[in-house]
Amino acid sequence: MSTVVNTARPARLGILISGRGSNMVALAEAVHEGRIPNAEISVVVSDQANAAGLAKAKERGIETLVIERRRRTRAEHDREIAEALRARNIDLICLAGYMRILSSEFIDAYRGRILNIHPSLLPAFPGLDAQKQALEHGVKWTGCTVHFVDETLDSGPIILQRVVPVDEGDTVESLSARILIEEHQLYPEAVALVLENILGLSAGQPMTEAFEFTES
Ligand code: GRF
Repeated sequence: MSTVVNTARPARLGILISGRGSNMVALAEAVHEGRIPNAEISVVVSDQANAAGLAKAKERGIETLVIERRRRTRAEHDREIAEALRARNIDLICLAGYMRILSSEFIDAYRGRILNIHPSLLPAFPGLDAQKQALEHGVKWTGCTVHFVDETLDSGPIILQRVVPVDEGDTVESLSARILIEEHQLYPEAVALVLENILGLSAGQPMTEAFEFTES
């Protein structure tokens, strides 16, 4: 007789941060509230020991790791991060204010499984200070983008975007704050969408590692 053994488990997310961690918190809250179904945040990794987001993750009972670059090459640093993620069976990696470019080896190892959030309507204003770039350019609308990470800087395939108006008299701070509100909504939506479509998950249908064995 053949029996299917269902070792259902939630999708395991790993979040990489360098600083404040407000998007990480938004993802944690969305998981907690079921807006990202069948998922858990397994680990938060920071390349900065003093990242404020680390305490916020710990408060929520999430495992945290500090993996600093020190004097290593980018590839060596990324290898340690990849090993930590692999050891925890991470399914999806969310960059949330992670201020480093990833090595091609890392991107290759997790191709299609790394997401990033960027505070502009890509492909406009990639790189640093996207909100300042938008103000300086004089655009009337900007926003935020969640995209897959590939070897290009902020140019991987777009998953979701939200539009934010630029107001008369906006400063970098006021515009950034208005975009950040939308980021906190958008990132969880995008993660839920990816889990549903890429990893084949949907509400009520947990990740399964079904396998068969034969009873004698
Ligand atoms: C956000 O604006 C995000 O779009 C960008 O870096 C910032 C991170 O903020 N990539 P936080 O650390 O999530 O608060």
